[in-house]
Amino acid sequence: MKLLCSSFQDHTNAVVIPLFEDKIISKDASSCFSQEEIDTIQLFLKQEQSLSCGAAHYLFLPSGRYVLFVAKGKKEQWSIRNARIVSRCIVVNLKKLHINEASVDSRALGVDGYDEEAMLEVIATEMVMADFSFDIYKQSHQKEKKRDITVHLAIACSASERKVLSSAVARGSIIGEEVNSARVLSNTPGSDMTPAIFADRAQKGCESHKVEIEVWDENKIQDMGMGGVWGVGKGSVVKPRFLIVKHEPNARQKPLVLVGKGVTFDTGGLNVKIGNAMYEMHMDMSGASAVIRSVIGIARLNVPMNVIGLIPVAENAISGESYKPGDILTSITGKTIEVMNTDAEGRVILADALGYAQQLNPRLVIDIATLTGAALGALGVQANAFFTNDEKSETMVRDIGEKSGDYMWQLPLWEEYEREVKGVFGDVANTGKSRYGGTIAGAMFLKEFVDYPWAHIDMAPTMISTNGDHLAKGAKGTGVRFFIALARHLANEM
Ligand code: BES
Ligand code: ZN
Ligand code: ZN
Repeated sequence: MKLLCSSFQDHTNAVVIPLFEDKIISKDASSCFSQEEIDTIQLFLKQEQSLSCGAAHYLFLPSGRYVLFVAKGKKEQWSIRNARIVSRCIVVNLKKLHINEASVDSRALGVDGYDEEAMLEVIATEMVMADFSFDIYKQSHQKEKKRDITVHLAIACSASERKVLSSAVARGSIIGEEVNSARVLSNTPGSDMTPAIFADRAQKGCESHKVEIEVWDENKIQDMGMGGVWGVGKGSVVKPRFLIVKHEPNARQKPLVLVGKGVTFDTGGLNVKIGNAMYEMHMDMSGASAVIRSVIGIARLNVPMNVIGLIPVAENAISGESYKPGDILTSITGKTIEVMNTDAEGRVILADALGYAQQLNPRLVIDIATLTGAALGALGVQANAFFTNDEKSETMVRDIGEKSGDYMWQLPLWEEYEREVKGVFGDVANTGKSRYGGTIAGAMFLKEFVDYPWAHIDMAPTMISTNGDHLAKGAKGTGVRFFIALARHLANEM
């Protein structure tokens, strides 16, 4: 998709007009039409029923031009959340109607508290996300030439303003592209996305954007004392990897460290998953995809913030060499992990990454993981769970979640929960003792490996898109928008 910041006169064959229930069209959008056309449009709108937010009506004018009306819903309920959804719906509808080029009345998507630059960035990101589909495994993908659509984000402004707004659109597009790249990694089937292949893809991505990357193989992982990554990964014929990626524009600045769970397929291990529970587990490396594409995105946007990504990648498989319930693994910190359940593998590999982060003198460490099914039980599919030991991060994580579109809701890390993860024969147990509160038990386990300001995101609830997201089926790319926004926020604080 091509996204341009244009004037209303640049393209008028198809015009997209976002409308509240009052159906009042902006002066700028009206300027695209003759009086006769305006009369036709008004008559049309009078007859049409109000639609719920995101729904569309279209009108084919006698002049041969399309007008697409997209409902913004009730004025009182208009928010940045709705603006994201409507931006996506515009692209979905243009594609459905086979319209290849259109102008959008972009100011009509504006929200209080967001200046024009910020707003155009958001619109661009969401439109690029809506343009994505994962069809490289379809035979028809080869035959059908993918239609490349052009969307003009129309705004009446001066030439100098347009320059500024155009770069906002370009930045927003980069963020959307990185979200989509993370979705490609996550959606790729487990057999085609082993730890070595993931490392290879990461390396290629980093090379094209001048991001430093180091890849450790299974020998180095064992030499470094990462008993967790090795323990989980050794049962598979495809051996684990550990990735370190770096964007370090500043000398002597404490880094933001991002840690992502990279389980390329989660069978559950010897505590094998039953029924349908294994189906989407090729996406169990979605935290890892988010981290790699975030660091690349942060580099592409030249964010003046040191960021290091740590990514343990392993397949949780079944064989004679699989780790077993009752095994006791020694993590990089020396703390021992008593394996109660081999399906709680994410926290075991993250323990080594979090332990390693202790050497990096971090400003803040945030890990992201498809960690627990229980997070879906707690929050449904709309919010990610987050935890933090850092008071300042409580509001920061939630606010940046809201601003970025990756919504975050906090759960407690109280010491009363500590007994849940006390080991009997080892230091820490990898599951809680109670059958309740599994998401908190996961976070309490990770907390044992942390001695710095830290936040944990359990992204299991939003691993895949859901009805109402208006995004392609499959991985949603959670975390990329959030981490890029976070790095920019922290850079501004310095
Ligand atoms: N990868 C799963 C969690 C998951 C489930 C993510 C559904 C996304 C969708 C994780 O490794 C897991 O299996 N967790 C167990 C933990 C339990 C054994 C303590 C779970 O949630 O059941
Ligand atoms: Zn598991
Ligand atoms: Zn898992």
